[in-house]
Amino acid sequence: MRITMVGSGYVGLVSGACFSDFGHDVICVDKDADKIAALEAGKMPIFEPGLDILVATNVAAGRLTFSTDLKAAVSGADAVFIAVGTPSRRGDGHADLSYVFAATREIAAAIDGPLVVVTKSTVPVGTGDKVEEILTELAGDFPIAVVSNPEFLREGAAIGDFKRPDRIVIGTDDARAQQVMRDIYRPLYLNESPILFTGRRTSELIKYAANAFLATKITFINEIADLCEAVGANVQDVARGIGLDNRIGSKFLHAGPGYGGSCFPKDTLALLKTAEDYETPVRIVEAVVQVNDTRKRAMGRKVITALGGEAKGKTVAVLGLTFKPNTDDMRDAPSLAIVQSLLDAGANVRAHDPEGMEIARAMMPDVVYCNDAYEAAAGSDAVVIVTEWDIYRALDLKRLAATMAGAVMVDLRNVYRPGDVEKAGFSYSSIGR
Ligand code: UDX
Repeated sequence: MRITMVGSGYVGLVSGACFSDFGHDVICVDKDADKIAALEAGKMPIFEPGLDILVATNVAAGRLTFSTDLKAAVSGADAVFIAVGTPSRRGDGHADLSYVFAATREIAAAIDGPLVVVTKSTVPVGTGDKVEEILTELAGDFPIAVVSNPEFLREGAAIGDFKRPDRIVIGTDDARAQQVMRDIYRPLYLNESPILFTGRRTSELIKYAANAFLATKITFINEIADLCEAVGANVQDVARGIGLDNRIGSKFLHAGPGYGGSCFPKDTLALLKTAEDYETPVRIVEAVVQVNDTRKRAMGRKVITALGGEAKGKTVAVLGLTFKPNTDDMRDAPSLAIVQSLLDAGANVRAHDPEGMEIARAMMPDVVYCNDAYEAAAGSDAVVIVTEWDIYRALDLKRLAATMAGAVMVDLRNVYRPGDVEKAGFSYSSIGR
């Protein structure tokens, strides 16, 4: 199959590289000429484990190419995937579809034969209908099908998630398009990944419902964690105790500082907007969004409480800035709210993150960035683990304590066992224990 990926960001690049690894011929297109030049030189625009090698292997095999020329890339393609961003629109939280429609118009102008266009970007219900309208207007007599094929990959585990998905969702009633999609995903469903064919609107909603459900699960356990702290229970045991019930399942029950990232915050908001538009409120998701926003700020207050209620003039070392490990993504990271509340309270903040500091520097210029955890902790009154990178899981706690001015550790990811940290001389607080 010949596949064109429009948009070489996170989803487009990972999907394109993985499709080429299945043996398909893939062209990844992007407007950003610098990005395409960098990709051609083997330089990845994002940090994702294994992506550089996957790209290099498939480029060398001649199956994966990069281009800024959308028109040439669309010509002769069996399927054109739209994988551009759908960020939150400033001011109202609706998904901003301007990139999707701009890409659609460019594809429409390039049509020179029958075409299957697939939206991989996360788009609100009904977007496929509009994409189809734009395309058919300009397609002349060529048959056009528009398919919704949402992506469920997680940053940091994207290649594994793409190649071993729990399911593939394909939304289209068009028989020819269904066959094209079957051929594209054949290596996966031969591998026993279930493939679910649905209507297009259903498929579009599945993506939002999945993300909203997962965000709800996290937020639920986060509130139970607060209750655990109040009543003297242990949230990790509660999570295990409920998660072993197959109807609940044990994943996504790690209590923490609140969810962040490029998907859950924007997709839950966009779902609320869709619900508003159709006058069918989803009140549980409304509560989830509100609780999660409040929680991130509350984490700053938790640190101040651990410092004895006063942060003015104190120094806090923040370990981990990205919204989760194995990514350099800082979007909606809990660290942003936590650091801001510490700075507002008059604290000095030092920080370390294995991959996120370059981006963090631009977003939080008032922080002192350090080369490792020990350098960040040196002279600090408290150390706060915000993101559970592996390198923070086995810190030499005695060495850490020895360099600090105070001996407070706040572990927002429950990385350590309380006894171990206290033995090293720290006063220790964590989440829901
Ligand atoms: C998510 C979805 O998992 C993925 O299917 C979708 O396509 C995009 O959004 P991602 O944002 O990359 O992926 O990360 P994920 O691992 O799901 O974590 C999201 C956030 O939830 C992070 O901030 C993480 O720290 C938090 N989280 C996750 C918890 O606090 N507790 C958990 O148990 C799981």
